[in-house]
Amino acid sequence: MTNVHVSVHPLVQTKVAILRDEKTKPKIFRELVGEITQFLMYEATADLPTSPVTVQTPMAAYHGQTLAARIGLIPILRAGLGMVDPILDMIPTAQIWHLGLYRDHETLQPVSYYNKLPADPTVDVCLVLDPMLATGGSASAAVSVLKRWGVQHIKFVGLIAAPEGVALMQREHPDVPLHLAAVDERLNDIGYIIPGLGDAGDRQFGTR
Ligand code: PRP
Ligand code: URA
Repeated sequence: MTNVHVSVHPLVQTKVAILRDEKTKPKIFRELVGEITQFLMYEATADLPTSPVTVQTPMAAYHGQTLAARIGLIPILRAGLGMVDPILDMIPTAQIWHLGLYRDHETLQPVSYYNKLPADPTVDVCLVLDPMLATGGSASAAVSVLKRWGVQHIKFVGLIAAPEGVALMQREHPDVPLHLAAVDERLNDIGYIIPGLGDAGDRQFGTR
């Protein structure tokens, strides 16, 4: 699979196993979403451009590099919200543009209910955030919105994917790299990832 990056890091795998456990309560679940997101971000941001910077240490001038790209975080509501603060800890200058999409339970098609993108893009790179890539419909719709908005450099950061969602993204947006912690076996007949972790929004926000 080109453009699909699935972490094999032992710490990520350990945290993903705890995340999936039905006994894991929302507080720990939220912490794990954040920690795994930060591991994935380390790889997802490895090719971002830098520009020269000079600072004065107490001893001498230091010529180094600083992040040159303006980063936009696009959390897909609700579940993507839990990935925002952990990334802001890493990239405090990132801008946040919210997109609200939910899956219609019957059709599994994404339904848009909120869009807080400004008139014109003010970022260079967009990171679409959603813990779950199931059919891929929500992620694909979010990426299409961003492309129409005018951003061409887009990455998707998610935790758990189904092969069906990966295939849809590769078909509809082959230019968008996927950064994932796991690709599972399949979707069940109501569109949930097997083995997955259940409903990521409910498990983060205690609404099950
Ligand atoms: C979940 C998840 C994704 C979507 C994935 O959200 O957070 O946004 O489903 O499914 P897909 O790949 O088949 O589109 P959901 O629609 O349950 O909304 P919620 O976050 O408000 O619970
Ligand atoms: N959304 C979730 O939260 N979980 C799934 O398994 C599929 C879609």
